[in-house]
Amino acid sequence: MTETLQSSSATNIPAPPAPVPLLSARKVRKSFGGVQVLKGITLSVNAGEVMCLLGPSGSGKSTFLRCINHLERIDGGRISVDGELIGYAQRQNRIYEMNPREVARQRRGIGMVFQRFNLFPHMTALENVTVAPIGVKKLPKQQATQRGLDLLDRVGLVDLAQSYPTQLSGGQQQRVAIARSLAMDPKLLLFDEPTSALDPELVGDVLDVMRALAADGMTMIVVTHEIGFARGAADSVVFMDGGVVVESGPPASVLDNPQNERTKAFLNSVM
Ligand SMILES: Nc1ncnc2c1ncn2[C@@H]1O[C@H](COP(=O)(O)OP(=O)(O)OP(=O)(O)O)[C@@H](O)[C@H]1O
Ligand SMILES: [Mg+2]
Repeated sequence: MTETLQSSSATNIPAPPAPVPLLSARKVRKSFGGVQVLKGITLSVNAGEVMCLLGPSGSGKSTFLRCINHLERIDGGRISVDGELIGYAQRQNRIYEMNPREVARQRRGIGMVFQRFNLFPHMTALENVTVAPIGVKKLPKQQATQRGLDLLDRVGLVDLAQSYPTQLSGGQQQRVAIARSLAMDPKLLLFDEPTSALDPELVGDVLDVMRALAADGMTMIVVTHEIGFARGAADSVVFMDGGVVVESGPPASVLDNPQNERTKAFLNSVM
């Protein structure tokens, strides 16, 4: 009896569900004034995973990130996040660009952290973190403040909640910027060289916060030259050059056993 049960349950166990891509980009093309900067980018990032995007200056990394939240309009291909087409709606086989309100709604689900921290200078760290939840999400102030303090605690800055950006180091400002992105509960976080404007001694604290987010299951795309971070935190690494994906795969293959000459040359220049 037990045996029968065991064997029947063994054969009935469904295969684990295939990972669902949270971000899917297909053949994304983008030109500026006749110069094609993205020449058909196809890649995907599964929910809960971290993808590091590497590539030389001018390869199109920032442009691609900006296309993900429709800060740039793509010329061809498609991008979807959590199953929803970005920037466009499909009706009866025709594609329409979304209106600004819809674009803004989509953008709220995608956090972006830039090289320069872009904090509001006239607001405290806490106010920077709570301004959008109060103003956009209409969260009651008390609730937003409590959540803001929790998020500042998460990035190790709760003691500096009342400080203004000029009173904070670059690394602290960047951690406030990360807390501010998290306050909108994004599905996806995009980082564009988040540590490259920082003094070397401040880089580690920011990377630690990013590693903790990754460990908590945040889906992240990180443009970075920090190969150590990519090796330790990324589930996948994509090397872009000249607007195309040259090589992609797990960090152990792309970083430690690259196949393409361009990838090898780039890694030699940054490692
Ligand atoms: N708004 C724009 N108008 C015209 N050209 C642009 C614009 N934005 C980007 N470009 C061009 O597109 C190309 C790719 O730029 P992008 O900023 O995406 O590169 P990147 O890989 O992020 O480089 P970096 O490592 O220097 O940040 C560059 O040649 C750049 O000059
Ligand atoms: Mg860039």
